[in-house]
Amino acid sequence: MSFTRSIKIAPSILSADFAAFGAECRAIEAQGADWVHVDVMDGHFVPNITFGPATCAAIRPHIKGVMDVHLMIAPVDPYIEAFAAAGADIITAHLEAGPHIHRTLQAIRGAGAKAGLALNPGTGIDSVAHLLDMVDLICVMTVNPGFGGQKFIHSQLEKIRQLRALIGDRSVHIEIDGGVTTETAPLVAAAGADVLVAGSAVFRGGSVADPAPYGENIRAIRAAAEAAQTSWA
Ligand code: DX5
Ligand code: ZN
Repeated sequence: MSFTRSIKIAPSILSADFAAFGAECRAIEAQGADWVHVDVMDGHFVPNITFGPATCAAIRPHIKGVMDVHLMIAPVDPYIEAFAAAGADIITAHLEAGPHIHRTLQAIRGAGAKAGLALNPGTGIDSVAHLLDMVDLICVMTVNPGFGGQKFIHSQLEKIRQLRALIGDRSVHIEIDGGVTTETAPLVAAAGADVLVAGSAVFRGGSVADPAPYGENIRAIRAAAEAAQTSWA
C-alpha cells in the first residue's frame, strides 16, 4: 500500500448481499472500488451484529486490493491478531472502545496491519495529537455507527478540517464513514478527506447479477469528490 491523497472509494459490504460476499467483493472491485470496507459489529459497542474474523478470512481471497476492516467492537485488543491473520490490510479501532487506545494502536501495527483510529460524531479531536505518529488512518464517523443508510451529520465537516490541519504532511489518510453520497462527497473532499466509505450509495440499484450500477455509483461519487478536492491534495 503506497500512500497517496488521491480520492479512494471504499464500498462497505454492510450494504452487500450477505449470502454472496465473495462475489460482491469481486463485483465492486471490477466496477472500480479502490478499497473494500468491512464493518465488524458486536451488538455491544454498537447496537447491531455483523460478523467476525472467520468471515473476513473467507472473503479475503476475493479481494485483490485493500481490505479495510472497521472494528465496532469492545474490547478490541483480544481480537486484533485474529483480524490480522484474516488478512486485514488496515484495522481500525474506535477511540471510544476502551481505555487504552494507545496500546490498541501499537498492537495493530505490531500484528503487521496499518492502524486506523475511528472517532464517533460526539468525540472531539483533542486526543488525536497524542496518537498522530501511531496511526495510518483516521476515520471520521459522519453517522453514529451501527447501521447503513443513515443521514450525514454536517457538523462533522469542521472536525475534518481541523484534522486535516493537524495531520499536515504526515502520511495519514482521512476516511469518512456514513452518509456519503454524490451530495456529501464534495463537502468531505473539500474539507480534507481522501477515503470515502459508501454503503447504500454504492450498492443502490445493482446486484451481483447486474453490477453495472455499482460502477456508475462509484464513478459518480468519485467525480463529485475529485471536483471538490482542493490544493492540499
Ligand atoms: C456504519 C458503518 C458504515 C456504513 C455506511 O456503522 O461503519 O460503514 O456501512 O453506510 P452508508 O454509506 O449507507 O451510510
Ligand atoms: Zn464502517
